[in-house]
Amino acid sequence: MSQQLAQVHATPGVAAYMAEVEAGLARAVAARPGLAQEVAGEALSAGGKRLRPLLCFLTADGEPSVAAGVAVEMVHMATLVHDDLVDGARLRRGLPAAWSVYGAGAAKAAGDYLYACAFAVLAETGDAQAVQTLADAALCLARGEAMQKLQTHEPETPIEAYLERCSLKTGKLIEAACLLGSGGDVGLGAYGAALGIAFQIADDILDCAGQTQETGKIPGTDLREGTPTMPLIYAAQQDEVVRAALAGGPLDGALVRVAATDALDRSRQAALDYAAGARSSLGSHAHREELEALTYAVVDRAG
Ligand code: IPE
Ligand code: IPE
Ligand code: MG
Ligand code: MG
Repeated sequence: MSQQLAQVHATPGVAAYMAEVEAGLARAVAARPGLAQEVAGEALSAGGKRLRPLLCFLTADGEPSVAAGVAVEMVHMATLVHDDLVDGARLRRGLPAAWSVYGAGAAKAAGDYLYACAFAVLAETGDAQAVQTLADAALCLARGEAMQKLQTHEPETPIEAYLERCSLKTGKLIEAACLLGSGGDVGLGAYGAALGIAFQIADDILDCAGQTQETGKIPGTDLREGTPTMPLIYAAQQDEVVRAALAGGPLDGALVRVAATDALDRSRQAALDYAAGARSSLGSHAHREELEALTYAVVDRAG
């Protein structure tokens, strides 16, 4: 975890809230013993940055909702278990991805189980609006992942289409974390939506240039899968080898050539612009300073 993010996690009250979220996650996932529970439990206990529950805490005006933090992290985890299967990604949070250990069927079941548990936890609060918000986000996630499949091996994917995909597959859930935390504050929702896009662009840069030790993932997955991310789209516009690799051709040396273009810098600038947009959506909030710090942390991170 970056130092900046660790610093935000050190905000008074966060540790106690996170401990409750962790306990809630363990309790929720243990609800129905079986293989799905075992696989899902392992994925959860591998850790992660817990950014989404952190946002539930920071956006709350008063007592933060533990159920919201648990539910939003479980939806996130569900998507990752499914996403690694779809992306053929073998490493997650520094450990073998669920599908690579237990097989595709178990990974699908574990992801479905996590989704179901998330909604059970939130429904128990009786807050229909919160359930609606999370359901909307989950639907957008599925649309975003489907859109990504359609864009596979298309180096000419317009940047706008890429950004729409980021908004759907990543922005919406981060927006939901802020909406659930704040009880529906529109400004904080807009903050989360923009923060999420910045976060995904940074993730896509890390997939080109990150270190496994820091990200817990294997770089080059997007290029190998033909996923047109912002850095890959820009690099493909400048380098024929990258373009061919992104279109499904040979990968040899292509990632090095991405780094030789200005694609990573341009993408970082775009992420910084979205981060600035997130900051401009903030009003006066109890944790405004931490929310601002997060906008820097999500772009300048190594993992
Ligand atoms: C990874 O999310 C998937 C993306 C949306 C890019 P995180 O980077 O928040 O993953 P963890 O929870 O910290 O492992
Ligand atoms: C984010 O996309 C996945 C979801 C939001 C479901 P990626 O495929 O880039 O995420 P990582 O890199 O596998 O974590
Ligand atoms: Mg992936
Ligand atoms: Mg990625």
